[in-house]
Amino acid sequence: MRVSLVSTPPAELPVDALAVAVATGQRLSGGALELDRALGGVLSEMIASAEFRGRIHEVLPVPTSVKSGPRRVILYGVGAMRDLDGQRLRSAHHELIRASRTYGYKRIGLVRAEPPLGMDSLKAVVEGCVMGTFERRSRQTGAQPERREIEELVLTGFGLGREHEVVIAQENGEATNRAREWQNAPPNELTPEALAQEAQRIAQRHHLEVEVLGPAELRAGGYNLILGVAAGSANPPRLVRLRYRASQHPGAQPQSGAPVLALIGKGVTFDSGGISIKPAENMSQMKGDMAGAAAVLSAIDVIASRKVQIDVMAVIAATENMPGPSAQRPGDVVVSADGKTVEIVNTDAEGRLILADALTYALRNGATHLIDLATLTGAAKVAIGHAATAAVSNDDTFWSVVERAAADAGDRVWRLPIFADYRILLRSQIADLRNAEYGEAGTILGGMFIGEFAGGKPWTHLDIAASSWNTNVELTTVLRGPNGAGTRLCIALAELMSGAER
Ligand code: BES
Ligand code: ZN
Ligand code: MN
Repeated sequence: MRVSLVSTPPAELPVDALAVAVATGQRLSGGALELDRALGGVLSEMIASAEFRGRIHEVLPVPTSVKSGPRRVILYGVGAMRDLDGQRLRSAHHELIRASRTYGYKRIGLVRAEPPLGMDSLKAVVEGCVMGTFERRSRQTGAQPERREIEELVLTGFGLGREHEVVIAQENGEATNRAREWQNAPPNELTPEALAQEAQRIAQRHHLEVEVLGPAELRAGGYNLILGVAAGSANPPRLVRLRYRASQHPGAQPQSGAPVLALIGKGVTFDSGGISIKPAENMSQMKGDMAGAAAVLSAIDVIASRKVQIDVMAVIAATENMPGPSAQRPGDVVVSADGKTVEIVNTDAEGRLILADALTYALRNGATHLIDLATLTGAAKVAIGHAATAAVSNDDTFWSVVERAAADAGDRVWRLPIFADYRILLRSQIADLRNAEYGEAGTILGGMFIGEFAGGKPWTHLDIAASSWNTNVELTTVLRGPNGAGTRLCIALAELMSGAER
């Protein structure tokens, strides 16, 4: 989908359909009102008669009779203004594009809505629209795609000379879609080794330093928590590090004491639960247990290609969690890379184990700020559901930057507390820590376990177990299926930390 900016009056745009945003209880204004007048008031009539209410994800094509302008106007709802945030705005545009693809429109025009909705909405609009072009790659033989592709999106009223912003938003949308594609990939295709190869491809593209540790190197480095999780699988694990240096670009100066942001992703390519095996129902959903790795890989790809002026490393801990004959057992005690002993109470609480070692690996390689993204706990769905990522952090300053990045990116997060009282629940009778059986506060404790390995550095944990894949058919306004949660947040975080004015 090509995206372009024009200053053509809406009624004269030669497109198949011209998209006009409507909020509930709001009248048309600005470019939309002009268009309505040119069409003899048909749009305001549809709104006045409540045939179109402007509810989020409501999409309605209206035929026009203009000769050289748009063949259709397509009204799309953004819901109530007071509920509108970056995530809902993107979701509304995602739906607009999906509906337009169903109708078979090739060229879509889009009229900028007036402030406050229109207040610098360009990025959100383009990101949402690009995300709406996503189609899960089908492995069905001879299947015809249900939705067609849009050739061009023409934006009017946003001002000219903003092509750079459009390109950035397109990249962000496409990066999100790449993460979604990885989330959706079957686990026999996207093995730990294949995920590491994807990382290597990104490294090659941007000439990044890359290190891939296999079983032998993991043993040498003492990464026993990762090896323990991987012990039941025939497919060997990989611990991968990509290193992007802002100073690798001409003109950039290496700065001592500059931050090194580590984006750390859980890359469990399939989580059967191991010996603490999961029930059969919906186990196939555990192919998406590498969503954190997908997000950080996609993000560093953009960060490097955009030459964001901050040092960033992406670390992904890629493994399966399988119950093979040499699998670890509940009751095992394993020594982590940083020397802590961990009692494995439940082999299905594997994410925190591999991330613990991944944090140690990031610290050994000079990380100063740590953010981990993980489909860590089913409890995240109970705590806040699919509508936001659950977070914990050990540092208010770092958290405030993460929170701003999330708002910029339309990639919601909500922080849960770390009360000192919880700490005792991480204790084991036999080891320094246990990996499960806390009885309450599952999302917080999963995060706190990982935080034990942050070496006192500013750290934030994002539990994307529920937010990265909405399985609730009733929750219609949160993107269904894989959605790349955390991808845009990581990009925005690097940009904010680089001090780039955007
Ligand atoms: N990958 C799962 C968490 C998950 C659940 C992700 C549902 C996506 C959807 C994780 O490894 C897991 O199994 N967590 C356990 C932890 C428990 C044993 C402490 C869980 O949530 O049940
Ligand atoms: Zn898991
Ligand atoms: Mn698990």
